[in-house]
Amino acid sequence: MTAPVPYLQFDAVTKQFSGLHVVASPFNLVVPRRQFVAFLGPSGCGKTTLMRMVGGLDTPSTGGIRLEGAPVGGPDRRRGMVFQSYSSFPWLTVEQNIMFGMKYRRDMLAAEKHERAMHYLKLVGLQDFGASYPNRISGGMRQRVAIARTLAAGSEILLMDEPFGALDAQLREELQVELRRIQAEDAKTIIFVTHDVEEAVFLADRVIVFSPRPTVIRADIDITATLGKSRDLAMRDSTEFFRLRTEILHMLRDAHRAAS
Ligand SMILES: Nc1ncnc2c1ncn2[C@@H]1O[C@H](COP(=O)(O)OP(=O)(O)OP(=O)(O)O)[C@@H](O)[C@H]1O
Ligand SMILES: [Mg+2]
Repeated sequence: MTAPVPYLQFDAVTKQFSGLHVVASPFNLVVPRRQFVAFLGPSGCGKTTLMRMVGGLDTPSTGGIRLEGAPVGGPDRRRGMVFQSYSSFPWLTVEQNIMFGMKYRRDMLAAEKHERAMHYLKLVGLQDFGASYPNRISGGMRQRVAIARTLAAGSEILLMDEPFGALDAQLREELQVELRRIQAEDAKTIIFVTHDVEEAVFLADRVIVFSPRPTVIRADIDITATLGKSRDLAMRDSTEFFRLRTEILHMLRDAHRAAS
């Protein structure tokens, strides 16, 4: 029997920029379909670089990234990126911003695009704000627009680089709960970069802890094995949550100490 083709695979990836080895030792990782993976690690270890390579915005220096066995090329709508800063067009309404993500889809009629836009607006809880302009809604709502646009465009993998970094704690919690729900409901694969250990533990099925450069995977932690698939805010007060959080914090601290 042949082994099944991995969904997303980093195969011996290295990356250097004009002499600087960002990812020096070959990076290997397999992400199964529908897994929610968080990347945690010190600044400069290459998290954004690895993510940009999955998104097709950068290419590995050696090795490769494959999606269902096929090498990833340039950006395409199967892989959608959501960044820290809200990237919406201020001159378009919320609904038009979401429609924009489907602009080049020739396989859909306008009515279908509209219906899809409404579906994803509802999913992110903004069904009453389709006609609003981005500068009239809060930062958290704008971030939800960005998520809805990426989902509506048909992305099956969401690449999220500190997407909640600029939000206040309350809003951040709210969006974390929502993102986890959306991921389950819409069956997405997510790679989520954060510096916040609690955010990583709460959101992810699996947390990858990076070392400082030269970057290696310091730990690969199965969160779902401990916390299960469904998450709610009350879990944050549980002993299991606290144990995972502490364990990871220590790992990051040790890695930092070893590097300095
Ligand atoms: N286009 C580029 N040209 C040159 N150097 C780059 C480029 N992009 C990234 N780097 C360097 O590569 C290293 C890793 O950057 P990267 O942004 O991937 O780190 P990171 O883990 O995302 O860090 P942070 O947590 O601060 O966001 C940094 O030293 C950065 O300066
Ligand atoms: Mg980064």
